[in-house]
Amino acid sequence: MGKTAIFAHRGSAGTHPENTMISFEEAVAAGADGIELDVQLSKDGVPVVIHDEKLNRTTDGKGYVKDLTWKELSSLNASVAHKKFGINRIPALEEVLRFLKGTNLQLNIELKNGVFLYPGMEETVIAMIRSFKMEERIILSSFNHYSLVHCFRLAPEIETAPLYRDGLYMPWVYARAIGAKGMHPSIKAAPEPIIVQAMAEGIAVRPYTINDEAMMRSLFSIECSAFITDYPKKAVQIRKDY
Ligand code: G3P
Ligand code: MG
Repeated sequence: MGKTAIFAHRGSAGTHPENTMISFEEAVAAGADGIELDVQLSKDGVPVVIHDEKLNRTTDGKGYVKDLTWKELSSLNASVAHKKFGINRIPALEEVLRFLKGTNLQLNIELKNGVFLYPGMEETVIAMIRSFKMEERIILSSFNHYSLVHCFRLAPEIETAPLYRDGLYMPWVYARAIGAKGMHPSIKAAPEPIIVQAMAEGIAVRPYTINDEAMMRSLFSIECSAFITDYPKKAVQIRKDY
């Protein structure tokens, strides 16, 4: 087996309703090594698993996640684009941690605090991770790198990784400067020599979103630390060749 870990993007988002339990269950069944999910806060401060700031695209609700209580959010259907899977709720982060506790998968929690800052989200999420004693299996990522520095100061034992979309000069130097042990570039911002050198410098590289077979193969062949894909089952199958 190749050394590259496979992280299931929003679960198995290519085949199942993104960021729902059924999508995470599919990722586990597919043999993924980790799951990536997105977290925002409800009006009453509950960390919830959903990608967009607005409910409109993925649920039968409308408006901003931040304006509804957990009770209100938990009654919505987050499976509107995937009718064949029936009704699937927006999970609370706590539910996903409880589910993954019984597996050996890693979990990449992406803090979606670029548009709304969700003050206190870092403290709440870290307290939850600690209460489950899952510090070793979690990677906190965000496009908001100030938030990642805040996380590092609160919980240096939990790995952080900056997300970025544009080319950085010596990103491993930048990652180290903010206390990060990994980096999560868009694949467009991560040419192969950058990936190879970052890993040689001791920084884990987990590019996103890798759905194309040829791209998967090139990342397996350089033993990239991991990649994030909407199709974990396909990735696991292809990895058998390495
Ligand atoms: O964490 C990788 C990827 O999920 C970042 O972008 O918009 O899909 O959350 P996005
Ligand atoms: Mg994400």
